Amino acid sequence: MPHNIIIDTDPGQDDAVAILLALASPELNVLGITCVAGNVPLHHITRNARQVCELASRPDMKVFAGCDTPMEKPLVTAEHVHGDSGLDGTDLPDPKMKLQDQHAVDFIIETLRSEPSGTVTLCPLGPLTNIGTAFKKAPDIVDRVKEIVLMGGAYFEVGNITPAAEFNIYVDPEAAELVFMSGVKLTVMPLDVTHKALTSRTWIDELIAIGTPVTKAVAGLTDFFERFDVAKYGGTGAPLHDPTVIAFLIQPEMFEGRFVNVEIETQSELTRGMTVADWWYVTDRPKNAMFIGSVDRDAYFNLLTQRLRLL
Ligand code: BDR
Ligand code: CA
Repeated sequence: MPHNIIIDTDPGQDDAVAILLALASPELNVLGITCVAGNVPLHHITRNARQVCELASRPDMKVFAGCDTPMEKPLVTAEHVHGDSGLDGTDLPDPKMKLQDQHAVDFIIETLRSEPSGTVTLCPLGPLTNIGTAFKKAPDIVDRVKEIVLMGGAYFEVGNITPAAEFNIYVDPEAAELVFMSGVKLTVMPLDVTHKALTSRTWIDELIAIGTPVTKAVAGLTDFFERFDVAKYGGTGAPLHDPTVIAFLIQPEMFEGRFVNVEIETQSELTRGMTVADWWYVTDRPKNAMFIGSVDRDAYFNLLTQRLRLL
């Protein structure tokens, strides 16, 4: 039985690869793609998500526009990483498929109410605004979520948008706090693992050599995305963050982590959005998240190559 998932996303080159991986994987049944403002403003995000679905030859996929600003604070974006469109690095045509009329938050609520309880997994790849808003608006859905597997946060790697915070959590810490305190089974892909999932020239060349529209587009997207991270961190590749969420649902055995307490800093100007993870068990705060720390890099990129070539 495929796993029913909703992908909540702000594409973003790495979000795009995550969506493609999910659409290529028979283990997963994508019920819908919900868009949230993050890497770039929402009007770019909703276009990008549809471009990616069309690239995957899935114009039937339901794509929903969600929240265009965080729950309490103004939106912070990341054009410096992803380019003005959010998907710089390829030249995908304007999408023909329509956005759904329903708001993403209402789709999340309705789906969780209508599907059997405990059968829908949420996969947030951007700020947690849509999920936090849905939980606040319809608290009855919280217990119906099977699990949440999300990309966000950091402990050992600390921050990428501020010295203390990872982008997705920083943009909407109030929403993140609602999610982390919700009691839903939570698996977190922080920078600690994604900074080990580094692209390489060999992988990009392999995608170019496969030569399908999808693999060539992913090569272009990755190439663009790499420039910023290589300049920032040095080394040879860029962290391919968001597909770790999808890979975890397909092959969890390639990841290792610890079940720990993770809380979100929402008050301090200095460390707002920090994920304070009790990795060393120095408190008796209740454990609420499987916090992933490592990945078998070769297995991860092999899975991506193997699946992306199918589209
Ligand atoms: C996260 O922020 C975004 O820039 C990426 O798409 C990823 O979801 C990494 O911090
Ligand atoms: Ca993202």
